[in-house]
Amino acid sequence: MKALVLGGGGREHALVRALSLDPGVTDLHCAPGNPGTSELAENHVINVVDGLAVTQLAARIGAELVVIGPEAPLVAGVADALRERGIPVFGPDKEAARLEGSKGFAKEVMQAAGVPTARARLCRSPHQVAEALAEFGPPYVVKDDGLAAGKGVVVTEDRAAAERHARECGRVVVEEYLDGPEVSLFVVSDGVHAVPLLPAQDFKRAYDGDQGPNTGGMGAYAPLPWAPPGLVDEVMETVVRPTLAEMARRGARYQGLLYVGLALTSAGPRVVEFNARFGDPECQVVLDRLATPIGALLQATDTGGLPSDTRLDWRSGAAVTVVVAAENYPGDPVKGDLITGLDAASAVEGAYVLHAGTAWSGARDLKANGGRVLDVVGTGDTLAQARERAYAAASRIELRGSFYRRDIAERAAAQAS
Ligand code: AMP
Ligand code: GLY
Repeated sequence: MKALVLGGGGREHALVRALSLDPGVTDLHCAPGNPGTSELAENHVINVVDGLAVTQLAARIGAELVVIGPEAPLVAGVADALRERGIPVFGPDKEAARLEGSKGFAKEVMQAAGVPTARARLCRSPHQVAEALAEFGPPYVVKDDGLAAGKGVVVTEDRAAAERHARECGRVVVEEYLDGPEVSLFVVSDGVHAVPLLPAQDFKRAYDGDQGPNTGGMGAYAPLPWAPPGLVDEVMETVVRPTLAEMARRGARYQGLLYVGLALTSAGPRVVEFNARFGDPECQVVLDRLATPIGALLQATDTGGLPSDTRLDWRSGAAVTVVVAAENYPGDPVKGDLITGLDAASAVEGAYVLHAGTAWSGARDLKANGGRVLDVVGTGDTLAQARERAYAAASRIELRGSFYRRDIAERAAAQAS
């Protein structure tokens, strides 16, 4: 199978890596990719939100599978363009991707499908915002209605800050605060049948102890030793199947990856958000654990469907990823500084490094080129061992001003041992 991955972050490096380990994948391409993907695939410089440019590239290389990594091309309709040309694609069409692209639309679908989620109000004026904030009370949750790369959400006790965020965004969703640990569950769907992957946990705040601003994600681990038994079945039953059925009913069959962001509240799992693509950096640890070759699985969502008895095999043990972020992330990250120590980091047993925001500096040197620069992955028999290896590897990386959280998977590893 010839495969093309769209995107250029850590998630896409993980996807390229997983495809490179699939014996059924003979030819691997990535656009635009990054220095990490260039070691496993041929990188192509194109604008990945341009459907015509993507279909032309896919046709030229004879792609039999295009995996769309980020949300922007999905929301722009790149999957539609590929399907129109008969090129198999992993990722939902534009209309179905609105589950991520519009918080208001996602709430409407959840309501129609009876999916458990936070009560919410779509607000178009400061007056509506004030009413909704009063109705739900603190902590206040205010979300930009459009795409904001995980940074459009403010959760605060400070009413003035909540109102300020709403003013800056314009159209917002104000919702009830959900208390409880968060879980990311990814589901591979052909629009009718769906297969869950391993649940993972992400760390959204910038600093240790869940302090600081929300980010795209500072680290992740899988599996979750503390997850209640039956959690995945319950979410498939109460969230995934009703949502897929509701989308099909609306003529927006959902093919691709459905990311279910959950809060495990005392009243049961509640949906915090849907995304139309793999979570980053959760994807990195989930794919690390997947033993089933990924190419045919992703392709089946668009060609004849997933067999309803699809079973996935998982490696025993655990994976932890720690994100090395550039100085000043998630504000205006410092770019251009030299990165060293990657070989030393990869020499740590059970550890490897995925590129997230890097670029070549000259022919051989690497520089930081984004907020999240590297994802250091540690694997092991236990969460504690995976963690140790991830941190041993991360400590060998040098990038001026960079930082990473020291507490990724700390509590779960302590509980599990
Ligand atoms: P979202 O972009 O909707 O995923 O929100 C980003 C992050 O904000 C989530 O991962 C949560 O940590 C937090 N968050 C969003 N909605 C809620 C909510 N209703 N209650 C508590 N925290 C929330
Ligand atoms: N890590 C959270 C996300 O990808 O949305």
